[in-house]
Amino acid sequence: MLSLYFYFATLFVSFAHCENFNWLSLAMSSTSYYAPKYRSTHNTMDKNQYRMLCERLMGLNPMQRIICQQHPLAMPSIGRGARDSLYECQVQFKHERWNCSERFEVHNNSINGNFYQDLLGTTLRAGNKETAFLSAITSAGVVHAITRGCSTGNLTVCGCDNQPGNQRYTEVESPTTASKNQNQFTWDGCSDDAAFGVRFAREFLDKYERQRFAETSDVRHLMNLHNNFVGREAITQNMRKHCRCHGVSGSCEFKTCWLQMPKFNEVGEMLKQRYNHFAVQVAKRAKKKLRRKERSERKIPLRGNEIAYLNRSPSYCERNDKLGIYGTRGRECNQTSLSSDSCDLLCCGRGYDTREVRRTVQCHCKFVWCCHVKCKECTENVLVHTCK
Ligand SMILES: *[C@@H]1O[C@H](CO)[C@@H](O)[C@H](O)[C@H]1NC(C)=O
Ligand SMILES: *[C@@H]1O[C@H](CO)[C@@H](O)[C@H](O)[C@H]1NC(C)=O
Ligand SMILES: *[C@@H]1O[C@H](CO)[C@@H](O)[C@H](O)[C@H]1NC(C)=O
Ligand SMILES: *[C@@H]1O[C@H](CO)[C@@H](O)[C@H](O)[C@H]1NC(C)=O
Repeated sequence: MLSLYFYFATLFVSFAHCENFNWLSLAMSSTSYYAPKYRSTHNTMDKNQYRMLCERLMGLNPMQRIICQQHPLAMPSIGRGARDSLYECQVQFKHERWNCSERFEVHNNSINGNFYQDLLGTTLRAGNKETAFLSAITSAGVVHAITRGCSTGNLTVCGCDNQPGNQRYTEVESPTTASKNQNQFTWDGCSDDAAFGVRFAREFLDKYERQRFAETSDVRHLMNLHNNFVGREAITQNMRKHCRCHGVSGSCEFKTCWLQMPKFNEVGEMLKQRYNHFAVQVAKRAKKKLRRKERSERKIPLRGNEIAYLNRSPSYCERNDKLGIYGTRGRECNQTSLSSDSCDLLCCGRGYDTREVRRTVQCHCKFVWCCHVKCKECTENVLVHTCK
């Protein structure tokens, strides 16, 4: 009986494995070998060549493979979005027990001997708060990278937004650009077309999740859809109007303005705040929409600033190879901190070792006319605490 159970368990695992696409592996694929030449009358790659290039990009789900064939020029931007969001995730979680990395497996794939790395794959499938953050930041990463690709002219299907007034935005007025006639300005320069980035990210990330939800009714897909939405909102709700003054010596007689996306590290900070304070556990079943797990709040719909998760997170204290968890042994902690990097919290109460190390730091810095800072290098002894 038990062996039968295991037989099916293995079957399920290997089956599930085929379903586990992970586009984040694009962060590792060098898109340079792939960077297709700009389309021109002389240099037209035919469809078959694109198809082959897209087959070689590992980790894409069937929908993403089609998008790759339709928009091959967008793929380097998507790879960049994956890289930027993973980097930002690691910055935001530098002081947490889960530091946005996991022991990942290298999957050997038979296609042309290419392999792909299932980056953060275990976390992506865990359905917990960390999964939610990852979905949100990577979806924001795609919007950001694609939109930037449009603004810089790297993508040919899009460009600057020529009707920025239709986007939602906030003003950033510096004293130099605040004119008496606040409202007098003309749109000029390149405004980021975030709406294009959003449409593209929805195609690339949401379409497959929606299809899988229709097929399986697995709430995890609804959860991913919601968190992807939260990531996109972090950008579209924070578009900023920047202006430049023209006219006689700073009179700001004429003002031209353009819209800019928030910087990606600001997006990372915002989403980390959502993770810290606005993470909502949702019910395991849903017909069409996610519902809060808390019974008394079931009627309150999820907001665009709340990330959704299904399962509680492990403590991340102890190493667990199956779950890809590093554990916090050996991590550096801060004896005087009261937050997550304190030795108490980071080391999970196991205690810590202290040793003295010599470190080289910049010191005796002087301002040198004009305009840089000159420093000496000092070595100093510092106490370093690491978790037991
Ligand atoms: C993947 O395959 C390559 C070539 O066949 C081999 O060198 C490498 O060790 C394999 N990696 C893993 C993790 O199995
Ligand atoms: C645009 O493309 C160039 C050349 O492929 C690349 O070096 C650059 O980083 C790209 N810029 C963006 C914003 O993607
Ligand atoms: C996260 O912590 C582990 C040790 O627990 C370390 O090996 C790994 O390099 C860290 N990751 C990052 C991105 O700092
Ligand atoms: C430790 O935490 C304190 C308080 O948050 C901070 O002032 C200090 O810079 C931190 N030390 C290190 C080495 O990060």
